[in-house]
Amino acid sequence: MNIAIIGAGYVGLVSGVCLAQIGHHVICVDNDAKKIKNLQKLDIPIFEPGLAELVRTNIKKKRLSFSTSIKEAAKKSLVIFIAVGTPSKEDGEADLTYVENVAREIAQTMDSYRLIVEKSTVPAATGKRIERTVRLNLPKKNNKIIEFDVASNPEFLREGSAISDFMHPDRVVIGVESKRAEEILKDIYKPLKTTIVVTDINSAEMIKHASNSFLAMKISFINAVAQICDRVGADVLKVAEGMGYDKRIGRAFLNAGIGYGGSCFPKDVDAFVRLSEKNGYEFALLKEVRSINEFQKQSFVKLIEDKLWILKDKVIGVFGLAFKPETDDMRNAASIDIIKILQAQGAKIKAYDPVAMDKSKDILKGVQLCKDAYAAARGSDCLLLITEWEEFKKLNFKKIKNSMKHAMIFDGRNMYDKKAMETLGFEYFGVGRGHGHY
Ligand code: NAD
Ligand code: UGA
Repeated sequence: MNIAIIGAGYVGLVSGVCLAQIGHHVICVDNDAKKIKNLQKLDIPIFEPGLAELVRTNIKKKRLSFSTSIKEAAKKSLVIFIAVGTPSKEDGEADLTYVENVAREIAQTMDSYRLIVEKSTVPAATGKRIERTVRLNLPKKNNKIIEFDVASNPEFLREGSAISDFMHPDRVVIGVESKRAEEILKDIYKPLKTTIVVTDINSAEMIKHASNSFLAMKISFINAVAQICDRVGADVLKVAEGMGYDKRIGRAFLNAGIGYGGSCFPKDVDAFVRLSEKNGYEFALLKEVRSINEFQKQSFVKLIEDKLWILKDKVIGVFGLAFKPETDDMRNAASIDIIKILQAQGAKIKAYDPVAMDKSKDILKGVQLCKDAYAAARGSDCLLLITEWEEFKKLNFKKIKNSMKHAMIFDGRNMYDKKAMETLGFEYFGVGRGHGHY
């Protein structure tokens, strides 16, 4: 099938490449001319495992191309996915300006049937607005009626495992208002051989918001439990394990730590809270999810303050900057807030991340970016583990200990074995590992 994807960011690019990989002909469009020029030269703008290889393969097979022109792509494609950003406004509501712009532009290029699919995460009822915008902006030629459908197809991929998530989804959700749209979307996803949930558009939009908010709630729940574990002397890792065996609960997304970050959970929880408020329901549970998430960072810093006492001129080594491993995405990374608070108290930060150093440069001011984890640890008063990259598991901690001023580690992701670290001579502090509260 001929498909256009508008917005070649994390979701648009990955979706476009994967749809090409399963046999469709895809044009990825972005209004960032530099991004498109780089993509055409096989210079991939984001770090995502396996992505570069798939881009190369599918360009070679002539199933994938890049353009800055919505007009060109919409002319050639039966299906047009909208995958532009939906950032937060001041009050947390989703800003749909990019979605509206793209819907208008698509409409103006149409001369025959097209299926317009929202893949961006949007509040319920956005599909209806897209439908109206397209209808109002269709070209008026000889009173010809141009047919079209709007559908919702939310995306559930995670950064860092995006290709595998797209190719092997737990389900594909399609929100449709016509049989024609349903058949086209089912055809597109047939090669994935997965469960396809068919709903109306509003329900599909709600599924996405409810899913992200539920996952954020799971994280905040275990983080609240971790707070109590610290107070009563229990170990949250064991608690999560014991809870997780219950199939109704599940072990996934019960990793306590310094909270969730990234471009989606914080923004999508905000947007769901606002959507609820606008519709006359106070979603207090989700507000609490947000507060617990903020508190995790604060209590992590308080723990560091308690153990280091005066932070002025203390040297703090930081392992990991990205909001999660296997990505270079720094949007809403916990590292940003934590480093800023420590710097405000006069601490000197030395940091290392396997791939997010470039993107960190403009965001983290006054941080000494080091060539590897050993350099970040050298001469420091303590270490912070912020992002649980695999390579941080394999470090030579004997060597690290000998190069530090004090062998002290604050493990914001509970990645290390407490006992093993203590045997090596480190003072070890995790999150919810029963060492008192702050
Ligand atoms: P992104 O910022 O990485 O990419 C958006 C792209 O859209 C940018 O490259 C931007 O230049 C482009 N764009 C904006 N306006 C445009 C226009 N008028 N014409 C052409 N291109 C335009 O964002 P993202 O992380 O890919 O997220 C996109 C949407 O998908 C959001 O709604 C997000 O919530 C949702 N989502 C993201 C993820 C994720 O893991 N990042 C997962 C699921 C859903
Ligand atoms: C999340 C969802 O998992 C995807 O299903 C969804 O498509 C996406 O948002 C989106 O809508 O954009 P993503 O943000 O890429 O994906 O990554 P996650 O793996 O969900 O991690 C999000 C944050 O939660 C990270 O900061 C991670 O460290 C944190 N997290 C995750 C925890 O603190 N504990 C956990 O148990 C799991």
